[in-house]
Amino acid sequence: MYPDRVVSGMRPTGSMHLGHYHGALKNWIRLQTELPCLFFVADWHALTTHYDDPGVIERSTWDMLVDWLAAGIDPSQSTLFIQSRVPEHAELHLLLSMATPLGWLERVPTYKDQIDNLSNKDLATYGFLGYPLLQAADVLIYRASQVPVGEDQLPHIEMMREIARRFNHLYGKEKGFEEKAQKAVKKLGSKRARLYNELRTEYQQDGKDEALEQAKAMLDDAQSLSLGDRERLFGYLEGSRKLILVEPQARLTEASRLPGLDGRKMSKSYGNAIALREDKDSVSKKIKTMPTDPARVRRSDAGDPARCPVWQFHQVYSDKPTQEWVVKGCTSAGIGCIECKQPVIDAIIKEQEPMHERAQPYLDDPSLVRAIVADGNDVARKLALETMRDVREAMGLAYT
Ligand code: TRP
Ligand code: SF4
Repeated sequence: MYPDRVVSGMRPTGSMHLGHYHGALKNWIRLQTELPCLFFVADWHALTTHYDDPGVIERSTWDMLVDWLAAGIDPSQSTLFIQSRVPEHAELHLLLSMATPLGWLERVPTYKDQIDNLSNKDLATYGFLGYPLLQAADVLIYRASQVPVGEDQLPHIEMMREIARRFNHLYGKEKGFEEKAQKAVKKLGSKRARLYNELRTEYQQDGKDEALEQAKAMLDDAQSLSLGDRERLFGYLEGSRKLILVEPQARLTEASRLPGLDGRKMSKSYGNAIALREDKDSVSKKIKTMPTDPARVRRSDAGDPARCPVWQFHQVYSDKPTQEWVVKGCTSAGIGCIECKQPVIDAIIKEQEPMHERAQPYLDDPSLVRAIVADGNDVARKLALETMRDVREAMGLAYT
């Protein structure tokens, strides 16, 4: 009933590297051609872990936006904005917090993991516990249908869905809902009304998901309905509530995982990263000095690609013939490691060339980035306010 829409965000806690590009940005860039997309800098989320060092956030925000644009996020297709510039995210977060059981937040796996992993920080804070709830607000406030994320974020998406369901259950109640819904069914016209009732019964009695989908598609086509009646009819299909918030789907990035230079996860803090806009010489130097199969000590020793991080780079960057050349050459000691690395160096430099080009105008004139974001903030805020109007009304805060 609500238009398909994609929402995702990233935390501005440092500069972007090729791991982010292959892990997330490439997916965003593909999606922006398929659906309306909103991409935002999650500066409040960064504060949950960097509250004692907020300086890095502002700097990283602008760098990150340039990185997105450099990577190919197109501001004429996607809406780019900064989370804290749409303060309604905070309002929705607060309202959702009223009915969110503490256990839901405490049980999110990233919660305890992060507290253990980042033991140098005190994360036993109110803000950090609320991290996934703020993330739920980020998405639900746009009634997004899809959220491109990595696998680690799946529990957060699952929780958002529960939050949306709970919200609709608690606040989608309406006096005389049943009668209003039945009146709305009549407005569909007799043929469609009959089909609606049949499909609703099939779904509710026999649990036929196809019936639900078919009924939803029919409602999408029924142009003449008012917004209120649509909400009722969508809600009536599944139960006896209006659907005010939408349950989003996770859209997983397809697996092209680029590890760091040492084979661990790429991360600036491990010192194993290549920046998105790293200069050529530095790329070349980093790859030339990256570790290889530790058992391959001399050039005459055969190696095993499975034990070599360079091979993982080939899997992302090289075509089949090159990959075959690597496997054969490595396992027979037919090629040396420096030779093996050259196609990777060439491919990374080639990938980055257009990024440097696209970034240049924004580096020359930073006001261009400011303007793109100012526009994006306005677009996002308008959409957020539409949802908040319904949310406030549903919760009895409309005061008209
Ligand atoms: N938690 C996400 C991450 O660490 C960032 C994020 C914040 C986000 N809000 C979001 C992602 C909303 C998707 C949708 O990667
Ligand atoms: Fe790694 Fe290539 Fe050297 Fe084999 S030849 S150990 S795959 S760098």
